[in-house]
Amino acid sequence: MKQRLETQVGALLNWYQLHARDLPWRRTQDPYAIWVSEIMLQQTQVKTVIPFWQRWMNELPSVIDLASASEERVLKLWEGLGYYRRARLLHAAARVIAERHGGQFPRGVDAIRELPGVGRYTAGAIGSIAFGLPEPILDGNIIRVLCRLEALGGDPKGRVMNEALWCQARRWVEAAGESGRREACSHLNQALMELGATVCTPRSPACERCPLGESCRARKEGNAEAYPELGARVAVEAREFVVAVLERDGRVWLRQRASDVVNGGLWEFPNLEVKPGTRGGEALLRGVLGDGTTEGWKPLSVVRHAITRYRVTQRAFVAEWVGTRSEVPGGGRWCGREQVEALPMSSAHRRIAKAWNLLRDGLHLA
Ligand code: ADE
Repeated sequence: MKQRLETQVGALLNWYQLHARDLPWRRTQDPYAIWVSEIMLQQTQVKTVIPFWQRWMNELPSVIDLASASEERVLKLWEGLGYYRRARLLHAAARVIAERHGGQFPRGVDAIRELPGVGRYTAGAIGSIAFGLPEPILDGNIIRVLCRLEALGGDPKGRVMNEALWCQARRWVEAAGESGRREACSHLNQALMELGATVCTPRSPACERCPLGESCRARKEGNAEAYPELGARVAVEAREFVVAVLERDGRVWLRQRASDVVNGGLWEFPNLEVKPGTRGGEALLRGVLGDGTTEGWKPLSVVRHAITRYRVTQRAFVAEWVGTRSEVPGGGRWCGREQVEALPMSSAHRRIAKAWNLLRDGLHLA
């Protein structure tokens, strides 16, 4: 049993040395840089993260730079990555490190875990990659690798099986630590991630290229794709919003979202959620904004995107604000083009802002 594990760990470490992708955060030992990469990589693909991480590290190269940055700057640097709560928690955690740890990234996994936004996986990743600790990690990729290797049926997200998988991941990283090889814990964990991302993929896994292929029980059964046995997917839900691009003297009205809601702190055009398929939603929006204060509503753009289990449609209308009141109800401010450009917005509202720019430039949208 122990020998099988040692052989597997050796094979995985050898494979990682030859096949690891050259990713920018793999060229540093700086725990701050590794932490930022791990937070960005939550729910986001490697190729998307790379340019964001590089720009971030140029602009905010140390934890103290992050702690002293404004929230607006932090959100702006995150703009386009989605799940903005991550950026707010990263910012909060940097302030904790500055205030409670004297600006030094904490070295123990328990102290790392206490940072805002850091869960069990991220603490293990930082602990092992930045500090070489024998701490396990377990995410969807690694669950797939481990379940296939042992041909484990059952729901890996269920409490008992999930705990068993964490124990298994711990055995792997501890065996790596005992191997005496250089950076063994870091490389073992990253090898498991890498294997799941590039070889042991959900569909059509490349078993012929797998360093663990010889000992993989699912491969022997000839049905690697049958593992893991994930429960039914949560149903996709359609959501629809109508969005008002209100103009006055060449400026538009933007408001800031509260800090405790989804996309907290980001700026957006006034909007209203409507039942999917609603026609004439702009009339509802006009009602909310104050009837009779806007004129000539015209369709501007339709933006579609997916977030978690939602398929979201945003229907934007442009209208002139002609009311005697200079303020739009619900808070916010009039913003010129440059201000709109500078404020942090979600990708959907940024696309609406771009459509407004094009309209102002006299281009006609399809
Ligand atoms: N996903 C999560 N952490 C990662 C890392 N360090 N390298 C590549 N993909 C990852």
